[in-house]
Amino acid sequence: MTARSDARTTPHTVAVIGAGYVGLPTAATLAHFGHSVVLAEHERSRLAALRSGRMPIVESGLDELVAECVASGTLSFTDSAVAAVSGAEFVFLCVPTPQSADGSADLSYVEAAAKEIAAALDPGTVVVNKSTVPVGSATMVEAVIGRPDICVVSNPEFLREGTAVLDSLNPDRIVVGADDPQAAAKVGALFAATGAPLMVTDATTSETIKYASNAFLATKLSFVNALAGLCEEVGADARDVLLGLGYDKRIGFEFLRPGPGWGGSCLPKDTRALLHIARGVGYDFALLAGAIASNDEQLSRVVSKVEVACGGTVDGATVAVWGLTFKANTDDRRDSPSLQICHRLGELGATVQAFDPTVEAEGEQPDDLLGLELRADPYEAATGARALVVLTEWDEFRWLDFSRVLAIMDEPCIVDARNLLDPAAVRRMGFRYSGIGRQ
Ligand code: NAD
Ligand code: UGA
Repeated sequence: MTARSDARTTPHTVAVIGAGYVGLPTAATLAHFGHSVVLAEHERSRLAALRSGRMPIVESGLDELVAECVASGTLSFTDSAVAAVSGAEFVFLCVPTPQSADGSADLSYVEAAAKEIAAALDPGTVVVNKSTVPVGSATMVEAVIGRPDICVVSNPEFLREGTAVLDSLNPDRIVVGADDPQAAAKVGALFAATGAPLMVTDATTSETIKYASNAFLATKLSFVNALAGLCEEVGADARDVLLGLGYDKRIGFEFLRPGPGWGGSCLPKDTRALLHIARGVGYDFALLAGAIASNDEQLSRVVSKVEVACGGTVDGATVAVWGLTFKANTDDRRDSPSLQICHRLGELGATVQAFDPTVEAEGEQPDDLLGLELRADPYEAATGARALVVLTEWDEFRWLDFSRVLAIMDEPCIVDARNLLDPAAVRRMGFRYSGIGRQ
C-alpha cells in the first residue's frame, strides 16, 4: 500500500515511543516516507516479536510495511526510550492513555515517558503527543520535561484498527496543535507525502478535535442503534432506512451499521474523557451523556434478544457466540461489546461457548475471557447451543456450512447482532432469525 501522493519528503530522524496499535503503524509509515525511525517498546514480548519479524498485533499490511522499512534501513527497534531519542529531531509519544476510575484519561504513561526521556533529548527536539490526551496535556508534558529548548506539539491520531496501515498512509487530515507555529509546521511536513490537508492550530484546539471526533462517531452510532430499535417496533427495515439516510451527502454512508453497541480501546474511553472534561468546567453535555447511556441500553437490548431466543431466560442454557473482538479484522478485545454481552449472559446463568478467529481455544485463558468456554472453531461453539449469537462481523462467518450448524444446535435460533447473515436464506433452512432493526 502506498500513500496517495508522491510529494517529496525531506528525511528527518524520528523516535517513536510505544509499539502498539498507533506507535507501530506510525513508525512504519514515517519510515516508509523515508524518515529514519527508531521505535522504542519496553514490553519484552512485543519487542521480541518485532525483532523476529512477527507483528505483535493483527493489522492488515503491517508486516509487509515493517519488513520493507527494516530491509531499507529506515526502521529499527530498541527497548529503551532514552536510546531511541538520542539524535532524534522529533519524538512521538504513542503510549496508552486508559480510562481512570472517574472517567478521566489516565496520563501516567505519558508522564512517565516524558520524565524518562527529558534529560536525553537533543536540544531543539520537538516532542509530539500522538497519544489521545485531554486539553492541557501539551503544557503538562512541557512542564514534566522542564526544558525551555524543547517544544511539545499535539498531533492526534485518527487511524482505525484493522485498517491502520491504509489510514496512516492516506489520512483524511493531519492536525497539529502548538503554541509555536514553526514547530507545528515542521511536524506537519513529516507527513507531506500523504497529501492530506494539514490543519495547524493551538494545542487546546487540536486536543479537543481528537475527543470531539470520537465522541461524534460514538453519538452517530448511538443514534443509529436507537433508530434500529425503533424500526423493529414500527416494522421498518433499518438497513433500508439507513441507506435512505446515507444517500444524503450531508449524512454519508459511513458509520451507519447498527450493531451490538460501540466499543474498542478508544470510543468508550474518549467519550467518557470528554464528558469528564465538560463536567470539570461545569458544562452540561447531556447529549454526550445520552449517547453513552444509549450504548449501554444497546448491549442490554442484545442480551434481551438472546433471552427471547432461548424462550424467555438464558439460565441453564448453552449459548454459542461467534466473535469476541470489538470489531472484525483486529485481535483487540479492549472494551469489546461482545465480551460485555458474553459476561452479562454468563451472569444470567448461561454457559457461553465462544469462538473467535484470533483467540486460541487451548492454553492459558486470558483474564478477560475467564468464565467463557472457548472453542476452536465456529461449529464446536454451536454444538448443543440453544441460540447462536453473532457478535463480531468476521466475514468468514458468512460462508460457513449452515446446514451443519443447524444439525449440531439444540434449537435453530440465531441472534445476528451485526446483521451479517442473509435472514431469508437462513430462515429457508429452518432457523429462527433475529437481527438488529429488521424483521
Ligand atoms: P497500546 O497499548 O496498543 O500501545 C502502547 C504501547 O506503548 C505498549 O506496547 C506499551 O508497552 C508501550 N509503552 C508504554 N510506555 C512505554 C515507554 N515508556 N517506553 C516504551 N514503550 C512504552 O496502545 P494504543 O492502542 O497504540 O494507544 C496509544 C494511544 O493512542 C492512546 O492514547 C490511544 O487513545 C491513542 N489512539 C489509539 C488508536 C487505536 O486505534 N488503538 C487510534 C488513535 C489514537
Ligand atoms: C475509532 C475511530 O474510528 C478512529 O478514527 C480513532 O482513531 C480510533 O477510534 C481511536 O481513537 O482509537 P476504532 O476504535 O479502530 O477507531 O474502531 P471503529 O471502526 O471506529 O469502531 C468502533 C466501534 O464502533 C466498534 O465496536 C465497531 O464495531 C462499531 N461500529 C462502527 C458499528 O457498530 N457500526 C459502524 O457502522 C461502525
